Amino acid sequence: MKITLYVNECEYTADVTAETRLIDFIREDLGLTGTKEGCSEGECGACTVIMNGKAVPSCMVLAGQANGSDIITVEGLSKHGELDILQKKFVEYGAVQCGFCSPGFLMSAKALLMENKKPTLSEIKRAIEGNLCRCTGFEKIVQAIDAAAKEEACGN
Ligand code: FES
Ligand code: FES
Repeated sequence: MKITLYVNECEYTADVTAETRLIDFIREDLGLTGTKEGCSEGECGACTVIMNGKAVPSCMVLAGQANGSDIITVEGLSKHGELDILQKKFVEYGAVQCGFCSPGFLMSAKALLMENKKPTLSEIKRAIEGNLCRCTGFEKIVQAIDAAAKEEACGN
């Protein structure tokens, strides 16, 4: 089937099979390998992308279901060579350890900040509850997202 997607503000048209998952389209057809595949079952959040403003596990979405959608992947976070505030704070707070889960955390956090500029700590924790970090980086990740939200809300 023929699909058209808008990924990181660029339009892509492609022929995909009915079984092609969104993650495969992103990684293999578009070569955007920042999106990681962990569990392949919607449990780990490593593959999270933003689809029409919502964080979704791209391993659980078929490319055909995403036809016509606006997608943001981790590659779409930085603008004009400058890291997104979330990426900067992840680095500053030491929230990137293995790094494998980081793209998913960043995208869940970005989706949160797109709809809620001043999230509470519990809202931050709820937004990333679908993302797994196995190396005890969780607290630093929450702190990094909180710092990014505060800095952006204050316009610093
Ligand atoms: S790879 Fe998609 S949720 Fe784990
Ligand atoms: S930083 Fe990736 S699993 Fe914790």
